[in-house]
This record gives sequence, C-alpha cells and structure tokens, in this order.
Amino acid sequence: MTNFNIQQAMHIETAQTQDRDALLGIAVRTGLFTPEEAEGLLGGVLDELASDSLPPGHQAAACRLRAGGTLIGWTYFAPDQHAEGVWNLWWIGVDPDHHGHGAGLHLLRHAEKIVSSKGGRVLVIETSDAPALAKARRFYEAQGYRECGRIPDFYSEGESKVIFARRPRED
Ligand SMILES: CC(C)(COP(=O)(O)OP(=O)(O)OC[C@H]1O[C@@H](n2cnc3c(N)ncnc32)[C@H](O)[C@@H]1OP(=O)(O)O)[C@@H](O)C(=O)NCCC(=O)NCCS
Repeated sequence: MTNFNIQQAMHIETAQTQDRDALLGIAVRTGLFTPEEAEGLLGGVLDELASDSLPPGHQAAACRLRAGGTLIGWTYFAPDQHAEGVWNLWWIGVDPDHHGHGAGLHLLRHAEKIVSSKGGRVLVIETSDAPALAKARRFYEAQGYRECGRIPDFYSEGESKVIFARRPRED
C-alpha cells in the first residue's frame, strides 16, 4: 500500500469518551508529556468535553488508520473567548509510529475546515521554541502558518512561546 492510499484510508471522527486512555497514550508516546502531565493537562479537557461542560465550539477530533481502526492521532481546538472569529488549536499529536504519513495534516485540515465553516478568520497555534518541538514548528510552517511572535522565557528560563497563525483553509 502506498502512503497516498494510507492517507486516503485515514478516518477523522469526534473523539469518543471510551478512547480516553488511547488518546492520552498517544500524547505520552509523543514524548512531550509524562503520564501525569497528560492526565492533568489533556485528561481534564477530555473529561470536560465528555460532560459537555466546556463553552460551545470546544472539540477534539481523532484520526484512525481506517474507520473503526487503530487510533493514531488527535487534536483539540476551540474558539477564543476574547476575539470574534479567532480559534486556538490547543493540541495536535500523532503516534510516533505513524509520523510522516499525513495524519497530522489530516487533523489540521479537519480543524481548519470546521473553523472556516463557523466563520473563523484566524487559527492560532502556540508552541515552544524547545528543540523537541522543532518538527512541529516545521510542520506548521509547511502548512502555511506564519510565525507572528515570540515571548521569551515564557515556559521557563530560555524557553520561548512561539505563536503561529493562518486563515483557515476551507477544504
Ligand atoms: C507535528 C505532528 C503532529 C505532525 O504529524 P504527522 O502525522 O507526522 O504529520 P504529516 O505526516 O501530516 O506531515 C509530516 C511530514 O510528512 C509529510 N507527509 C505528509 N503526508 C505524507 C505522505 N502521504 N507520504 C509521505 N510524506 C508525507 C508532510 O509533507 C510533512 O513534511 P514536512 O514536515 O516537511 O512538511 C507530529 O510530528 C507530532 O505528533 N509531533 C509530536 C507532538 C507535537 O509536537 N505536537 C505539537 C505540540 S505544539
């Protein structure tokens, strides 16, 4: 099977409550979070989504290899509470075993399509300048996200926040 076919078979759906452990497992396998951090930062969000206690528009989408198949990545995004038409992509992550086959792109384009359909003008992605996130920064730039600013020493001494944004694509 070629990469092109793998990409075509990928299936994006709303993240389901029963996938909570698998979704957190993916976040841990990216190497960016310990299990405790994933639980605290992302588990809480998944729980709030499941109990419908977040403001309208907050949503998580998951990517499977095929409909009903293995979960390989997910994203969480939401409208910004302080600016009309602005959305934030708070998390995107793909299982390292499946990097480079288009899952990240599929998830990002899915988010953009939804944001665009809701009249969103700007999709913002905040990340860090840490070496571990170099791949993610390259990925955003390759997808037309422009670096709009940096805040030095934001996450820790010597680790900046890097802000990317673009107008969401419709399809
Ligand atoms: C950033 C991340 C989400 C990208 O996910 P991914 O599934 O590897 O992304 P894609 O496969 O869609 O794209 C990655 C590269 O593969 C290439 N690619 C995409 N589809 C492809 C295909 N079918 N065949 C071959 N290459 C392909 C893309 O062109 C892209 O190349 P580029 O980086 O030079 O632009 C992933 O690296 C990740 O989970 N990183 C760890 C978590 C993280 O850093 N999250 C961001 C927190 S701010």
